[in-house]
Amino acid sequence: MTEKDLSIGKRKSEHLKIVAEKDVSYIKSSLLECVHLIHCALPEVDFEKIRTETEFFGKLLRAPLMITSMTGGTEYARELNRSLAEISEAKGIAFAVGSQRVIYRHPETKKDFAVRKWIPNGVLLGNIGAAELVNYPINRVKDLISSIEADGICVHLNPAQEMVQSEGNRNYTGQLDAITELMEILDGRVLIKETGAGIDPYTLERLKKAGVKYIDISGAGGTSWTKVEMYRANDEKIKRAGETFSDWGLPTAFSIYAARMIMSDDVSVIASGGINSGLDVAKSIALGADVGGFARPILKAYLDGGIKKASLFVESLIYELKTAMLLTGVDNLKGLKNVPRVYTGELRQWLNSYGWLGEKED
Ligand SMILES: Cc1cc2nc3c(=O)[nH]c(=O)nc-3n(C[C@H](O)[C@H](O)[C@H](O)COP(=O)(O)O)c2cc1C
Repeated sequence: MTEKDLSIGKRKSEHLKIVAEKDVSYIKSSLLECVHLIHCALPEVDFEKIRTETEFFGKLLRAPLMITSMTGGTEYARELNRSLAEISEAKGIAFAVGSQRVIYRHPETKKDFAVRKWIPNGVLLGNIGAAELVNYPINRVKDLISSIEADGICVHLNPAQEMVQSEGNRNYTGQLDAITELMEILDGRVLIKETGAGIDPYTLERLKKAGVKYIDISGAGGTSWTKVEMYRANDEKIKRAGETFSDWGLPTAFSIYAARMIMSDDVSVIASGGINSGLDVAKSIALGADVGGFARPILKAYLDGGIKKASLFVESLIYELKTAMLLTGVDNLKGLKNVPRVYTGELRQWLNSYGWLGEKED
C-alpha cells in the first residue's frame, strides 16, 4: 500500500479505538427530548398485531431500522462488517458498510466489505465520500456497488470532520454537480448522508433539485466526529480546532423536521445521530423520518458482548418502538407519523427560527 492508503487503514483503526474508549458524545443533545408523544390511556391496540414493515431500496424491512456506515479496510473491520450483516439479516433491518475509498487503490481490500453472503435477502449499501466523487471517475462508483453486490450506495458529507483532520480535504467545490451526475448514472440508488453534524435546509433544497431519493440527516446529539478527530490530532492547531468545533452541528430532531418540510413525500428520510432507543426511533418517525439509523450505539454493544449483545440492542429498539406505538394508540407506521405530540424548549426555538411552527420568536 502507498503511504496515503496505509494511512486510511490506520485512521480507520484509530477511529474505532477512540470511539470505543473516549467520550466522543456531543454536549448538545439531539433535542429528541423536546418531542413529547401524547400518551393514550385507552389504546385499543393488540401488541402482536403492530406492523413495522417498511419499503427501503425496493425491499421490505421488517423494522424501520438501519445500521449506518462504519468501517472496512482492516482485518478487524471485516469481522465487524460480517457480524453486523448477520444481525441485519436476522432482524430484517438495513446495513451499510463503511467508506470503500480504500478499494480504489487496493482492490484486494474489497473482501472486507463483501458481506452479501451474510445478508442474502436484506438491504446492503456501500459507502463513499462526496470528495471521492470529484476526485475519481464517477463511473467507478458502479464498481463499488457491484463489487459487494449492494442495493445502492451511501455518499457521505463530512466537512466538519475533514476540517479538523490534518490530512483532511480542504476543497469542497464540485460535489453537488458530482452528486447530480451520480443520481443519473445510478438511477436513484443513492443515499446522501451526513456523519453527525446534520443536514441544513439550504443543502436539503439543493439535494432535492438534484433528485435525491434517500437522505440520512445524521444530526448532532450522538457521535461528534470533530471530537473524535480532536483525540487523534498531533498538530496543535488542528487539535484546538477539534475542540473549538466539538459541539458543531444541527440537532437531529431539527434536521429530521427540516428534511420532511423540504423533501418531497416520496423521499425516504433516515434519522440518525444519537438514536439510542426505540422511543428515539418513534419520535423520529413522528417528526417525519421513515427509518432510524445508528452507528456507535451498536458498535459499543458489539464490543461489549459480541453478536449476542448487539442483537439484543436491535431487539430492544424494536420492542421499544412497538411499545411507543401501542402507548400512542397506533398499530402501523403511517399512524405513528400522525400521532399527537407537543414540542417544547429549544426545539421550538429552532423550528420557529425557520417559521415552521407559525409562531413569532420571543
Ligand atoms: C466507528 C465509526 C466509523 C464510521 N465510519 C463512517 C464511514 O466510513 N462512512 C460514513 O458515512 N459514516 C461513518 N460513520 C458515521 C456514522 O455512520 C453516523 O453517521 C454517525 O456516527 C452518527 O451516528 P451515531 O450517533 O449513531 O454514531 C462512522 C461512525 C462510527 C461510530
